[in-house]
Amino acid sequence: MSKIILTGDRPTGRLHIGHYVGSLRRRVQLQNSGEYDKIFIMEADAQALTDNADNPEKIRQNIVEVALDYLSVGLDPKVSTLFIQSQIAELTELAFYYMNLVTVSRLQRNPTVKTEIKMRNFEANIPVGFFTYPISQASDITAFKATTVPVGEDQAPMLEQTIEIVRRFNNIYGPTLVEPKILLPDNAACLRLPGIDGKAKMSKSLGNCIYLSEDPKDLAQKVREMYTDPTHLRVEDPGHTEGNVVFTYLDAFCSDEQVNAMFPEYAGLEEMKAHYRKGGLGDMKTKKLLLAVLEEELAPIRARRAELQKDIPYVLEVLRKGSEVAREAAAQTLSEVRHSMRIDYFGDSKLG
Ligand code: TRP
Repeated sequence: MSKIILTGDRPTGRLHIGHYVGSLRRRVQLQNSGEYDKIFIMEADAQALTDNADNPEKIRQNIVEVALDYLSVGLDPKVSTLFIQSQIAELTELAFYYMNLVTVSRLQRNPTVKTEIKMRNFEANIPVGFFTYPISQASDITAFKATTVPVGEDQAPMLEQTIEIVRRFNNIYGPTLVEPKILLPDNAACLRLPGIDGKAKMSKSLGNCIYLSEDPKDLAQKVREMYTDPTHLRVEDPGHTEGNVVFTYLDAFCSDEQVNAMFPEYAGLEEMKAHYRKGGLGDMKTKKLLLAVLEEELAPIRARRAELQKDIPYVLEVLRKGSEVAREAAAQTLSEVRHSMRIDYFGDSKLG
């Protein structure tokens, strides 16, 4: 069986380093591993509209921003198909059929949707489209016969929902859809990167992000402001590395070699952490290392973005071509679905 990747993001803002360690960096590695037959990366604009119906301009503008982020981290349109969800009409038709296989109470139990409903203060005014987006996400995944879905931890409930739909569908209509597997980041620090304020998750609405396109000055400022350990007042004081954002980011971004190159007194990050816990290592020093490491990672991304920005028609062309390729793949699956469901009245299972 072919190995196929599908994943994506809602284009509601530029992507940040939480997206990067949670998924983007991995996608590029998977792409470059050469192990996958097909890779589809989707801008989920239709899903973004489920809670932004009154603000389509925001989504429209971020289509290009997210494409720039994709290309500048190293997603290669010659290898990966980059496309826009709303351009694939087949996805909505699939979702319409899948809706019959899911109950309202099942949707109400989705923990990610529950959290999002609270965060958005929808209370009784949940848009139906928003409520049902896990079903539409099952269409996204199954339309491309994805075997592997690299995503962050918060997407696990969507994968469970998809697998349930696949099983139910295949059970009723015969084997048609492919069961996907989730691929989570292998590093715990990357599962849910906290914001620079140490609050839960990095997110645009909380204003605690470092963007992939962050300029060097703002990056330095954000590292300077970063939440560390409020009980670590003087350099000599013992400190906490758990819950200390600087160390969480070092876990996500920094190799032992990088620690050792800047501070030869430590063999690696664990030795540096031990020193911090014991006392005698100040936040200035830990932040200096973090800034250097982040700058090393982000500088080439920033440079590629600046280049690409000069040629937006190229970026749009990548998305247009990608959407054509994606549409063909989804149309193939849809015709198989219609056949299995016995609604292809004029096709190869003609009435009569
Ligand atoms: N829900 C994902 C997010 O919030 C975006 C998304 C839509 C997605 N469809 C998908 C991710 C299919 C993986 C597979 O970012």
